[in-house]
Amino acid sequence: MSYVLGIDLGTSSLKGILMNKAGQVIAEASAEYDIDSPAPGFSEQHPEYWVVACEEVLTRLSIEVADFGAELEAISFSGQMHSLVTLGDEDTLAYPAILWNDVRTTKQCQQIMDTFGETIIEITKNIVLEGFTLPKILWLQQNKPEVWEKVRKIMLPKDYLAFILTGNMHCEYSDAAGTSLFDIEKREWSAAICEKFAIDMSILPPVVSSVEQVGVVNASYAKRFGLQREVKVFAGGADNACAALGAGVVNEDYALVSLGTSGVFSSFEAEISNYKGKLHFFNHVIPNANYSMGVTLAAGNSLNWFKNTFGKGLSFAELLADVYTVAPGSEGLLFTPYIVGERTPHIDSKIRGSFIGIDTRHELKHFARAVLEGITFSLKDAQVLMEEAKNKKFKQIISVGGGAKNADWMQMQADIFNAEIIRLEVEQGPGVGACMIAAVGNGWFEDFEACRNIFVQYKDATFTPREENVQKYEQLYDVYTQVYPATKTICSTLTNFNE
Ligand code: XUL
Repeated sequence: MSYVLGIDLGTSSLKGILMNKAGQVIAEASAEYDIDSPAPGFSEQHPEYWVVACEEVLTRLSIEVADFGAELEAISFSGQMHSLVTLGDEDTLAYPAILWNDVRTTKQCQQIMDTFGETIIEITKNIVLEGFTLPKILWLQQNKPEVWEKVRKIMLPKDYLAFILTGNMHCEYSDAAGTSLFDIEKREWSAAICEKFAIDMSILPPVVSSVEQVGVVNASYAKRFGLQREVKVFAGGADNACAALGAGVVNEDYALVSLGTSGVFSSFEAEISNYKGKLHFFNHVIPNANYSMGVTLAAGNSLNWFKNTFGKGLSFAELLADVYTVAPGSEGLLFTPYIVGERTPHIDSKIRGSFIGIDTRHELKHFARAVLEGITFSLKDAQVLMEEAKNKKFKQIISVGGGAKNADWMQMQADIFNAEIIRLEVEQGPGVGACMIAAVGNGWFEDFEACRNIFVQYKDATFTPREENVQKYEQLYDVYTQVYPATKTICSTLTNFNE
């Protein structure tokens, strides 16, 4: 049976997933790489790390799967967003890639927002954050002019990898949307932004659709990995868009909650919305569609911190074993998960977390439940913005990541989001979205809905909201939203005090 390969170029590893036409995962392989931090707040990778990792993954798959070379038809990508790759003359790398989680650009973000803030939000539909690409360009212009002078092309990570595999340079809508250089509505690089920040538009690669073929795997790789067919390469997409696609969020009835170190609540958007920077809004990998996205910086990270600090020696299962014995609301204890600052809807690097309402009857299990509730409330902030903007309710929410492993947390999500919660049969992350792009691009399916019906399977068990809990959580959520404004100034003073 023919195969497609989804390559997920992540922040700490590159993962390859090989799937067949029936949507079955045939094999997977991954290779890790380092993040370099030559100065505080710097986060860099040499693009060569990704190439080496990709070669390792292709080697492993070609050894493990007997008919890999004979049956591989198409490849596509999911990639870490926003990270800046710069190429000089003869396509040599001009500077290490500056990653999305690099925070050296606070000054440049301020400068952009102060001088061009309203216009840039209007064009890109997003506030400019440290992680985004434009402030990285300004940082290079201001701090490494000798490097910037040499730059002939800029690229996003997965597009660099596609360039290595095919020899062709391009970008696609979902990743272009995260650069702060792209007009989301017109679907083109913004001449106004480029002019304002002295960026020659000839350094920007052409933008294509995610399902567009951008080339074929070059002859030397084909030989090295025993590829017998001409393997087509499709453009692919940003990891958050691919994650939503891979979880089956292909229309406005569904949303995705992903509970990893950070938490993401994202939803499909057919039309352009302007959340005025309160949520992220990007073009999708699904043709002509978009998605909105809210990010809680410390989701799993809050639970991790709590376990390491107050539940040392306990496993997560042990820590959470009794939370179901505590009623919704944790008997008056409320937690806000702002332990490393927050992104959505409050872009605030100085806000910090709180436990409010501590009482002598509270035990570890109350605190553990309050942490789960607080993380979920913070994602509800994004849900509320999305539902209010469209005057709608999500029919179902697909929950992935650590939160999807704990049944009590799943029920809590159903009660707090007041929506049915479902889980994926097998969680493979954004790489499945990349496989789906390759499958649709390659003509296996007419569109993503058809592909989703074969490639995405859900577990039978659904978590349904319990009316009594929903009512209680509605009232508590109202209290939760009052904690941010009430603690903003206190936290800012405290963080300044500690700097
Ligand atoms: C999205 C973001 C991260 C990266 C991770 O805005 O910064 O989720 O996409 O790769």
